[in-house]
Amino acid sequence: GEDVCLSDGTKIRELLDLEEGYISSRVIGDPEIHQMEIERIFSKVWVPIAHESEIPNKGDYVLRYIGNEEVIVSRSEGGVINVVLNACTHRGSPVCRSEMGNSSHFRCPYHGFTFKQNGDLIGVPAYKEAFGDAFDKTQYSLVKARAATYAGLIFGTFNDSAPPLEEQLGSLKWYLDMMLSHTHGGMEVIGVPQRWTVKSNWKLGADNFVGDAYHTFMTHQSAVQLKLVPSGDPKFAFYGVHVSCENGNGLGLIGAPPEYELPPFYGVPQNIVEQIEQKLTPEHQKAFSRLAYIHGNIYPNMSFGYFSWATEAGKNPGSYLTLRQWVPKGPHEMEVFSWVLVEKEAPDWWKELARETYVRTFGSSGMLEQDDTEMWKNITRATKGYIASSKLKFIYRMGIDRKPEQGDWPGPGTVYQGDYSEANQLNIWRQWHKLLTENNE
Ligand code: FES
Ligand code: FE
Repeated sequence: GEDVCLSDGTKIRELLDLEEGYISSRVIGDPEIHQMEIERIFSKVWVPIAHESEIPNKGDYVLRYIGNEEVIVSRSEGGVINVVLNACTHRGSPVCRSEMGNSSHFRCPYHGFTFKQNGDLIGVPAYKEAFGDAFDKTQYSLVKARAATYAGLIFGTFNDSAPPLEEQLGSLKWYLDMMLSHTHGGMEVIGVPQRWTVKSNWKLGADNFVGDAYHTFMTHQSAVQLKLVPSGDPKFAFYGVHVSCENGNGLGLIGAPPEYELPPFYGVPQNIVEQIEQKLTPEHQKAFSRLAYIHGNIYPNMSFGYFSWATEAGKNPGSYLTLRQWVPKGPHEMEVFSWVLVEKEAPDWWKELARETYVRTFGSSGMLEQDDTEMWKNITRATKGYIASSKLKFIYRMGIDRKPEQGDWPGPGTVYQGDYSEANQLNIWRQWHKLLTENNE
């Protein structure tokens, strides 16, 4: 086969040395590469876009993005979930202009074509007079994506031949079960996702969340000083595991440090503990009971954090699951969607504590959130130039000599002892390379 080349003749494979752990900084912000990502990643794989609890009732919908395409995610009769492109088949006007709502159909504001939630065209004004017989409604449905769910997460893809979602997720499923389905009702989104724009390439968010435990003590130094990060020990993430899954998925899981007294299962209330004991396997329980921090990424652009923090000294720690999607808006900008989730059956005081803890830490104004996006924005700026992108190679050699080692970790995937590693980041780049060059080399 042929190599995939950029217009200056550079081959994609020349930008990565996955064996030695070097990646050209050109991969971050090159506009040509960005367009390849849109066509060969976001248009090919299952992309996580919403949580089922955001559209609980028939007729509910939200607007979301698969890559840079706006889609309507809705629930119709019998609980069926639809994902369709929000662009009218007549002349391209978005047919839905509200971020969320409830509606049995969408009427285009330009000339009034009306579509069902599943995208079927059902109404055309002055149909006979305007179009006569030269018109077959069944041909002009909105562009339909496939929809699938796992553990309450909704995914969409425009690729008719994408393998089943569960295959793409691989062993990450085990961890999604633990985080999203540890009670009978599962997790629910509190409120709506917070959204904001950052002048950062989308991949920097994924690269950070999938494996970068190393930045905590520097980037989040102010949180360390305030004792929000419950240890003065910069080696704290070494006492965890780093897990690479199939197809670019990955995560890191870290326990509470010895001086931080966190009851099992993130300190959840007793009624939730009882459900966890009924719902989760013994292996799941063994893993979940000892954790305080999980970070990871569902390939390509949905990261997650399952965190426990005491946001004030002496206060009860709250814990929450946050999902965050890095929506690409060109090579140098992304829109962040950030959700906070908590167990559906939890008492109100626990939900409120979770929400408050999230707002203070990883909401748009959260102390830790701002630390991270500042770095990614600056990296995007600093690597944009010709010299940086031709001479600067990122170093991905942390843990490169360490072999996978299961230890007593009860979960699947390729497990490394200690969360100071860049195996997951290289795993992301391996998948990126595969998708960009598949069927070409
Ligand atoms: Fe939608 Fe014409 S653009 S009806
Ligand atoms: Fe961070």
